[in-house]
Parts: sequence; structure tokens; C-alpha cells
Amino acid sequence: MPAGSTSLDPFDNIFAAYCAEIESSFNRYLPDPKERPQRLHEAMRYSMEAGGKRLRPTLTLAVADLYAARKQALPAALAVECIHTFSLIHDDLPCMDNDDLRRGKPTAHRQFDEPTALLAGDALLAFAFSLIAREYQSTPLLAIRLLQELSTACGSNGLVGGQMEDILAEKIPPTTEQLDYIHRHKTAALIEKAMTLGALIGQAREEDLQIIREVGQGIGLAFQIIDDILDETADAQTLGKTPGKDAAVGKATFVALFGLDEARTQANNLSNTAAAKLKSLPGDTAFLVSLVRKMQNRIS
Ligand code: IPE
Ligand code: IPE
Ligand code: MG
Ligand code: MG
Ligand code: MG
Repeated sequence: MPAGSTSLDPFDNIFAAYCAEIESSFNRYLPDPKERPQRLHEAMRYSMEAGGKRLRPTLTLAVADLYAARKQALPAALAVECIHTFSLIHDDLPCMDNDDLRRGKPTAHRQFDEPTALLAGDALLAFAFSLIAREYQSTPLLAIRLLQELSTACGSNGLVGGQMEDILAEKIPPTTEQLDYIHRHKTAALIEKAMTLGALIGQAREEDLQIIREVGQGIGLAFQIIDDILDETADAQTLGKTPGKDAAVGKATFVALFGLDEARTQANNLSNTAAAKLKSLPGDTAFLVSLVRKMQNRIS
């Protein structure tokens, strides 16, 4: 628990400390917004600093913490958040989901303009890989492994592939297999890698890595199912983004295919399985188990 903390809930304090650690690394690692081209670097900062739950980098740090490797994991955690933020900027563009509100603020293309938003997303994606290459260069085998895992999770067989099928499914209603593909690729892949990177930096045993991958997939899928539920049920003020858009454009969601109750049941089942699996890892997994519960019951 951070010094001077006053909250009575230990989970909230620990989560806040992870978030503070991630956010305080921005000035150290991210390009200076005054650096040329200033507008591009300002846009990158704008989206990174807009807020957000910081779930993915927290997962990286919390898994690394199980292996006493939290400090070494910080650049990897930040790289994961840069990739996540790139995916949000591009997801919001008029040619994609066409959203005006993100993290309670105007989307990047609204605050700046479309070319700047597109380029800020590109630059954050590239920056993530250069950060890892630079910060882990003294352990080259680890650096290569981190880059392999993360680049695969972002590309056509990961997040970008999921986004492609997400867009295609607006026109042709998906089967349950396609819906599973979309959610596992556009969302679960990066959440799984966020955890995997923490484990690799902590030199986790192969058996642990396998469990961590399964937990990451499970909570990643649950995370997108709950995102679908919130799009249907939450208000813009709480959500920090515009709700009701999935149904309006015929998005492939768990709510559209299964209904709210069944979607909630599936998210609960996935979260319960993940929480049980986490307990078989070494070290104190209490925070991670509580994080799974917090995400399961989140309202934004
Ligand atoms: C939103 O992710 C995009 C999805 C993959 C559902 P988050 O809900 O984690 O967004 P932030 O980081 O808190 O803004
Ligand atoms: C987004 O899914 C997934 C990625 C950004 C990769 P959504 O389109 O449902 O995310 P939100 O609801 O806009 O945050
Ligand atoms: Mg989308
Ligand atoms: Mg969207
Ligand atoms: Mg959504």
C-alpha cells in the first residue's frame, strides 16, 4: 500500500498504486509533446493521458509481482498500454466505429483531426515495439520473446484481424464461431499478452505460463462480453464513451446473439474459471483474483 494512503479498501489502494506507477512512467518514456512534430506528439499524449482503467498494464505489473519482477516489467506494461491506446484511437475513427467520446473526452480525431489521429495511432504502435527493444536490450533473448508475443497479438492474427472481422460482421450476421473469433482476437489477445509479458519477465515456469495464458484468454473474452453489455445498459457519463452504438450499427456482440442474461452468465462463468485458475499460481494472487472480480462487476 502506498505511503500516505487513506482509503480503507486495500484492493483500491493497490490498484491505484499500479495506475500511478504506470502514469508516472509517461514522462520518463514517452516522446516529449514539445518534440517535433509537436502536433503528433501532443495527440499521442492526449490519448494516453485521457484516462482509462489501465487494466492491461496493471495485469502486466501484477503478474510480474508474483515473481518479484515488477520493476523490470514497467516498460513492457507501458508498451501494452500504448498498443491498447493505438487500438482505441483507430477504433474510434469515422471509417471504423465513428465515435466522438473516449475516456470521457473528445476522441482523438475530434480533438485534433483525422490524419493526426491516424498517425498518432500508428506512432503509438511503433513506439511500443521500440520501447521494448530499447529497454530489454541487455537481455536480448527476453526482448525477442516479448516482441514476438506482442507483435503476433497485434497483427492480422490478433487484434487487427479481430477488428477486420468485427467490421465485416456488421454486414453479414456472424455465427457463434465468428463472434468468438472476433472477441478473442480484437480484445482477448492483448489482455492475454499483457499477462504473458509479466510472466516472461518474471521467468515463470512453463506450467505457470500456460495457466496465465488461459486466464488471460478467459478474462479477455469476459472483458469484451461485459463491454457489449455496458454498451447496451450504461449511460455516457458513467461509461466515458457513447452507449447504444453496437445495436445501432448491427455489431456482432454477445448481447445481440445471446441476449443480456445469457451474455452475463457467460461472462460470470469465464470470470469464475479464471479466478479459480489464478489461485494455482505461486505467490500472493489475491490482488489478481480481486481484479478479475472487479472487472466482472465493473460499470464502466
Ligand atoms: C475498451 O477497453 C476497448 C475494449 C477492448 C473493450 P477499456 O474498457 O479497457 O478502455 P479504457 O482503457 O478503460 O479506456
Ligand atoms: C474494441 O471493441 C476493440 C478494440 C479497440 C481493439 P469496441 O469497439 O467494442 O470497443 P469500444 O466499445 O469502442 O471501447
Ligand atoms: Mg470496435
Ligand atoms: Mg468501438
Ligand atoms: Mg464496445
